[in-house]
Amino acid sequence: MNHKRVAILISGGGSNMVELVKSMHGDHPARAVLVLANSADAGGLKRARAMGIATDFVDHRPFKGDRAAFEARLCDVLQQSAPDILCLAGFMRILTPEFIAKWQGRMLNIHPSLLPKYRGLNTHKRALEAGDSEHGCTVHEVTGALDDGPVLGQARLRVRAGDTPDTLSARVLKLEHQLYPAVLKRFAAGDKTPALLP
Ligand code: GRF
Repeated sequence: MNHKRVAILISGGGSNMVELVKSMHGDHPARAVLVLANSADAGGLKRARAMGIATDFVDHRPFKGDRAAFEARLCDVLQQSAPDILCLAGFMRILTPEFIAKWQGRMLNIHPSLLPKYRGLNTHKRALEAGDSEHGCTVHEVTGALDDGPVLGQARLRVRAGDTPDTLSARVLKLEHQLYPAVLKRFAAGDKTPALLP
């Protein structure tokens, strides 16, 4: 089988990246070919290297807000690995419509809310403040609008009395670690029907 080549973009610890990499084995139609961060300090880079995955980073700071120049550098690095699919996994940079257009239909993101609720940041705090009884995470195709795009999977849980943003985000993160690999396996096989867990 010639596997789909997957590059995973991270900014931090990369716990979702680790689960994605671990999932791509056996009859899985994809393999991780690169983990790319926007900082040399991203903790996930060391974890990726420990799993034998090629890594690289493009520090966004020297570009001082010139998103196009930063993304041009990202593309230089990406094309060396020639990925078929990009997975954003805790990648905290806003991408320009031009970059997104290049990868549209081949770029996924995981967002810690039940989209379309709570696009943007502080999703767990916002769900608690709204008194939501349910919360969760969404994997979606990346389109020009932030945290939007066709939903490829959602995982939901019951909010518990006494939940704080920290306790809620920790439980949602565990769901993310189940959802993202499940969605990627289907997506890499060409199946875009949404995965809904549980
Ligand atoms: C997760 O909460 C994810 O939903 C959001 O950023 C965080 C990344 O965590 N996109 P990690 O770097 O994958 O551990």
